[in-house]
Amino acid sequence: MAKPRRSFFFFFFLTTTVLLFSLSLSLLLQATPTHQHQDPQEGDTPITRFQNYLRINTAHPSPDYPSAIAYLLSQARSIGLLARTFEFSPGKPVVLFTWPGSRPSLPSILFNSHLDSVPAESSKWVHDPFSAVRKTDGKIFARGAQDDKCIGMQYLEAIRNLKEKKFEPIRTLHFSYVPDEEIGGFEGAAKFTASKEFKDLNVGFAMDEGQANPGDEFRVFYADRSPWNLKIKADGIPGHGSRLYDNSAMENLMKSVEIMSRFRESQFDVVKAGRAANSEVISVNPVYLKAGIPSPTGFVMNMQPSEAEAGFDLRLPPTADPDAMRKRIAEEWAPDVRNMTFEIIQKGPIRDILGRPLMTPTDESNPWWSVFKQAITSVGGKLAKPEILASTTDARYIRELGIPALGFSPMTNTPILLHDHNEFLKDTIYLRGIEVYESIISTLSSFEEASH
Ligand SMILES: *[C@@H]1O[C@H](CO)[C@@H](O)[C@H](O)[C@H]1NC(C)=O
Ligand SMILES: [Zn+2]
Repeated sequence: MAKPRRSFFFFFFLTTTVLLFSLSLSLLLQATPTHQHQDPQEGDTPITRFQNYLRINTAHPSPDYPSAIAYLLSQARSIGLLARTFEFSPGKPVVLFTWPGSRPSLPSILFNSHLDSVPAESSKWVHDPFSAVRKTDGKIFARGAQDDKCIGMQYLEAIRNLKEKKFEPIRTLHFSYVPDEEIGGFEGAAKFTASKEFKDLNVGFAMDEGQANPGDEFRVFYADRSPWNLKIKADGIPGHGSRLYDNSAMENLMKSVEIMSRFRESQFDVVKAGRAANSEVISVNPVYLKAGIPSPTGFVMNMQPSEAEAGFDLRLPPTADPDAMRKRIAEEWAPDVRNMTFEIIQKGPIRDILGRPLMTPTDESNPWWSVFKQAITSVGGKLAKPEILASTTDARYIRELGIPALGFSPMTNTPILLHDHNEFLKDTIYLRGIEVYESIISTLSSFEEASH
């Protein structure tokens, strides 16, 4: 008897497909300029310059990069900064500002931010997400206010102030604005950091975005988790729905799901017991199930299908061993003895060019850490315990080159609203951030000792 054709039994379906991307993308709305009348302050000030940057709609799926670049270039001109723009992929500009130091042979310092933002569902916001309304309590509402247009503009304001104070850097300072971070950075930071132009910058230390803290300490991140997309698939003998027999595709897949759920629980238990932060364990979350034979009314109910598949979002902290993970997947989650196959799509690097985990040391072994800490404390700031970021940023591409990089966005006493509705940042927090960057930029650029 001929084996039933596989493609025939291939189907679709089931439960929890998290089609977050397409859902949110389809709900995008354009900005309407409603800001003028509500704003307590007009004119050319640090706050209005921030608002103007926020009003440029660089949300996916069609970020307005040309307007953002034009605006940044105009700001750089007014400050007197050297500017270059690159296009490592068509339509994906990178802009780079440079403030030359008096000892250009020393490794430079890079401050990175991204131009783009995630989409915003206007209808769910109290103010239009691209109006950058400032309320009388100082809250500025806009997509990108926290993630991460704040730091992009704070860098520039800090430079402006330092130049006014006649500060002169010893190390050269670079400020990059890259596209596409929110969609993985593959056409943005990944290409930029792999370029000759980047190599020529001789970057010794880098800073990138972090996250807000509802408390009054500044959060700082020394690593990202590495995302893996995992698909597991089971093949089995098809059969009548009434028959009990071993090793159907569904049975084999469900065995795996049980084993993986136990692993998920064991990791989650560590978090619940307070032994590790969420970002310090391996997370494995089911995102889709795909099986069944379609019929005009739904699915064929008296047929056990010959194929079944499931997808998982896996996140590995830098302390996890990727080889051990692959082994676990091959031997326990999708073993060929259960007629299973798997596919891992690794989103970005997991080790640096020297084979080391992508982690920036936050102890005395890293002289930059001490200098950074000193820059914060010298302006009366308190640092929280350094963290691993649960998600990812472009910093992973910088760390991949073996360059130490910290994730930092100076937002204390601020709810974490990145990617959320009604993202806002308070003007006082924004202005305080400028002061903090003045300290960071001046302290780091005056640090002469570290060779790297
Ligand atoms: C694997 O597939 C073969 C061939 O279809 C079948 O004989 C065997 O029982 C299956 N084993 C398992 C564990 O599913
Ligand atoms: Zn971001």
